[in-house]
Amino acid sequence: MNDLLPQNRIDEFRAKAATIEHPRELIVDALRAVQSHYGWVPDAGVDLVAELLGVLPVEVEEIATFYDKIYRRPVGKRVIHICDSICCWAAGGEELATHLQRTLGIGFGETTADGVFTLLPTCCLGACGEAPAMMVGLTTYGSLTAAKVDTILAQLRTETGA
Ligand code: FES
Repeated sequence: MNDLLPQNRIDEFRAKAATIEHPRELIVDALRAVQSHYGWVPDAGVDLVAELLGVLPVEVEEIATFYDKIYRRPVGKRVIHICDSICCWAAGGEELATHLQRTLGIGFGETTADGVFTLLPTCCLGACGEAPAMMVGLTTYGSLTAAKVDTILAQLRTETGA
């Protein structure tokens, strides 16, 4: 399936895999590339990564299911990972999670009807000093309040053209 990854990335991963001793090291990068291009990683994406790197599909699957930032099901344009670990919980993270669910009208693991947001809980984001925190894409947002979350959601909606 060409729509999983552009041909230049396919060639790039194939070439890189041929020059390194342990192509398995490229699995995360290749999965991220598929996800970045396709939006999530379907079974065909796992098979493609395995074929490109010359590893078994089960090895790719193990890694894909281990990392919670690799999505094996369709997700919205922006995936919100709200931290539910201890520092964030103690700093009001639970109330914030409730606020997000109410504002977006979805529960954990769900996507808004307009396809913009998916909401997921996550373990510590390493931003405990700025608890409560959440991550969207590669950006971590800390010291969150309900008002700050609303501003961020509005910005993200604008970015997606929603
Ligand atoms: Fe939430 Fe560490 S506990 S960022």
